[in-house]
Amino acid sequence: MFKSLFTSLSLLLIFLFQPFQQIIAQVSYPSVYENGVVTSAEKHASEAGLKILREGGNAIDAAVAVQFALAVTLPRAGNIGGGGFMVLHTADGEINTLDFREKAPSRATRDMYLDEDGEYISEMSKIGGLASGVPGTVDGMVTALERYGTLALEIVLEPAIQLAEKGYQLSHSQARSLNSAANRLREFEGSRQVFIKPDGTEWQAGDLFVQKDLADTLRRIASMGRRGFYSGVTARMIVDEMQRTGGIISLRDLRDYKSVWRDPVKANFKEFELYMMPPPSSGGVVIKQVLAMLDELEIDQFKFNSADYIHRMAEALRRSFADRNYWLGDPDFAGIPMERLTSEEYLFQRISNFDPEQATPSIDVSQGEFHAFQESDQTTHFNVADRFGNVVAVNTTLNGSFGSFVTVSGAGFLLNNEMDDFSAKPGEPNMFGLIGAEANAIEPGKRMLSSMSPTIALKNGEPFFAGGGAGGPRIITATLQNFLNAALFGMNANQAITAPRIHHQWLPDKLYVERLYFSSDTLQKLEGFGHDVDQIGNIALTHFILFEPENRMQGAADSRGDGHVAGY
Ligand code: DON
Repeated sequence: MFKSLFTSLSLLLIFLFQPFQQIIAQVSYPSVYENGVVTSAEKHASEAGLKILREGGNAIDAAVAVQFALAVTLPRAGNIGGGGFMVLHTADGEINTLDFREKAPSRATRDMYLDEDGEYISEMSKIGGLASGVPGTVDGMVTALERYGTLALEIVLEPAIQLAEKGYQLSHSQARSLNSAANRLREFEGSRQVFIKPDGTEWQAGDLFVQKDLADTLRRIASMGRRGFYSGVTARMIVDEMQRTGGIISLRDLRDYKSVWRDPVKANFKEFELYMMPPPSSGGVVIKQVLAMLDELEIDQFKFNSADYIHRMAEALRRSFADRNYWLGDPDFAGIPMERLTSEEYLFQRISNFDPEQATPSIDVSQGEFHAFQESDQTTHFNVADRFGNVVAVNTTLNGSFGSFVTVSGAGFLLNNEMDDFSAKPGEPNMFGLIGAEANAIEPGKRMLSSMSPTIALKNGEPFFAGGGAGGPRIITATLQNFLNAALFGMNANQAITAPRIHHQWLPDKLYVERLYFSSDTLQKLEGFGHDVDQIGNIALTHFILFEPENRMQGAADSRGDGHVAGY
């Protein structure tokens, strides 16, 4: 006993006093797969994707299978009642992005979350029927499969249908996640029926979780495609639920929903080309801006996660998020000056007042107020790569954990609370402390601005990195850091994902760092530069694939969560 106590104490001391570089050098080398790999937030979902790959499907077939499986096994974020973005690279080198983000219902109005005095009622855009945008996931999956898949919808939906019909055993964290949301879920009859145990007790690890109504909904999609969701029985159930819970999504809104293929945002950084989601995601624009500013600041001259490295990263992020919040929104509505925002000339000028020894207060970058944001990890990201060279990165969400908390009665799935991603009132922060402007004001049929950042990077024309994450605006910073860890520092997938993260989003004017992992002299130096350093828990939950030469793949699932890598 003394021996094991001694061993634990020595390990702790080594951990506390060893520079982080040495710790990450000890992180185990990841498994390498040659035929295909899936990285997602949940084991059954990764296995569903792997099954499709093994049966001869390509990465797009498998990605669709994973998305539907996550709707069953990760109800807080995986979804058919939400939306998201897909970036894909095909074996013959085509790169495309699909926007299946939710849209504001046609009866939405600019001031729908304000009271008669013009005050923002924050809860209305977060909880209940009025918080939901028109879901995009099912149309997105059907659209992607039709264009790039090789298998029938019935086949790729089968794993999800089985998981819903026969059930699966809850893990400890799945049970905890359901229990922690129980009070809110209980408020809505449809959610009570699915997510609260009939005897009212808490879920335990090992409980069998069966979702018969959801299995029926998935079967309707399998046999009728988008009509199985956007019209007929499912659509009527959604509209009935809207009436019960004060929502405004109509049959016509559902019928008219269409996902959109968009040109990717492309960024060149050293020997890499990154392909990312354009607006209404802000991920691509911010990562492109930050990389250009970091290159100008010669970021590769600085030691990994040193104070000088972090200072440069934070200053580039601060400037970019100020632009994000002001300029970005749905490109189909707001005129977005993409060329100007991403031109080198503009970005060099934007970072030209960088001071190597002094933080630039956010108030001098642009006007704003201080607002804190909440911890959260309720979006999800997954990646699939196959042996043919197809690569898919999908970021998808209900927004908050369990979305609006409203489950469509009889159909068994949760609806999103994505309307909170609009700027409900200029200057008012949303649940992530993000302050929006006119470009992201509510309009009927408009898509709300997002931070989801599915990203595929090529090196010498071959896949190098495919990733994204959960965590609101921290998705952008974590995806950027995962890429840089591999691209600049040569870390393997396990090292790159384990490395401690930082985050800055302009407002609040704080430099967030993950607690415990940064040495006190680094933190003191950053404070000396004038940064308001805030040590917090996990920054984002990410998953990615790193490619070695000849399409050998390393999968990375964040140890900050329950992610799972499945490959062969
Ligand atoms: O699209 C967005 O940016 C947000 N709806 C993402 C929400 C999210 O990541 C929640 N989990 N942390």
